[in-house]
Amino acid sequence: MDILQAFTNYLNAAQSAITEASNAEQLEQVRIEFLGQKKGKLKDLQKLVGTAPPKEKPVVGKKFNEVRNEVQALLEAKLAEVSTTTNQTVSDFDPTLPGQSPQLGGMHPITQTISHFRELMGRFGFDVVEGPEIEDELHNFDALNIPEDHPARDPLDNFYIATAKATAGGPILLRSQTSTVQIRTMESQPPPVRIVSLGRVYRPDTMDATHSCMFHQMEGLMVDRHVTMAQLKTVLSLFARSFLGPDVEIRFRPSFFPFTEPSVEVDMKWGDSWMEIGGAGMVDPNVFKAVGYDPEEVSGFAFGLGIERFCMKHYEVDDIRRFYENDVRFLKQF
Ligand code: PHE
Repeated sequence: MDILQAFTNYLNAAQSAITEASNAEQLEQVRIEFLGQKKGKLKDLQKLVGTAPPKEKPVVGKKFNEVRNEVQALLEAKLAEVSTTTNQTVSDFDPTLPGQSPQLGGMHPITQTISHFRELMGRFGFDVVEGPEIEDELHNFDALNIPEDHPARDPLDNFYIATAKATAGGPILLRSQTSTVQIRTMESQPPPVRIVSLGRVYRPDTMDATHSCMFHQMEGLMVDRHVTMAQLKTVLSLFARSFLGPDVEIRFRPSFFPFTEPSVEVDMKWGDSWMEIGGAGMVDPNVFKAVGYDPEEVSGFAFGLGIERFCMKHYEVDDIRRFYENDVRFLKQF
């Protein structure tokens, strides 16, 4: 057969096959048939080129390349065409489907409780102050009249930061109580004082339904002339009722803290039993002396409440560990 005629036949056949093909799979079949390297029409054509007389070979060879390139170009152009049309017609975009609503976060129940506490105590005239979570022994123990041999200082009951260098205030630890902020506040201002401080405290307790090794406290301190225990009880009772409702039952039990005298423990009715929610008392004269206040001139009360316990009662959460698990199903309820 005439070689040039074979080229024309090949080109025509390829052209119509490409025109007929309407998707990528069909075009792939066409490619295999017309451009396949192992067998197929191109291979046949190549064999034919091999039979050309030697002096015609350069011309025939050049024509072979041209024809093959043309088919290749046609094929690619068609492939580009079908893939764009496919995207438009067989798109999975369905404008009638409802949109994906954005996932909105919410405030953690503890954060909400803290804001609420701040607001309530603000109405009682208490300013909010902050203190550091990493403390020295001076603020966590010494100035609070906690003696050297007191069990609360036991290294096993505290998170001492062993690698940290001791400072002027002694060895460093994660604060075990927010009472540290009483000291920091009185160190930095003269009386009268009326503050609350809300934040995290750390104790290596065994975790259970009501204990966690990190929890939150609200510390309160009021110092002025003639501050009384009756005022302390009034503030705490009013506070508990404002937060938990008028029916909440609160009781005060005589207790002991090195930094208050007299001291009480505060309980709240929890079902049929009582749950401890904090400690309180009249500021011990030794604490006033440690910060340079004159105990003959001023008196004061202080309290420290467990924020989680209030939050549990308020939202009817029966296990403190739920607050820290980051379970979205739990957190979504608030
Ligand atoms: N700091 C005490 C505690 O963590 C609570 C407390 C605060 C008691 C203030 C009396 C006065 O247990």
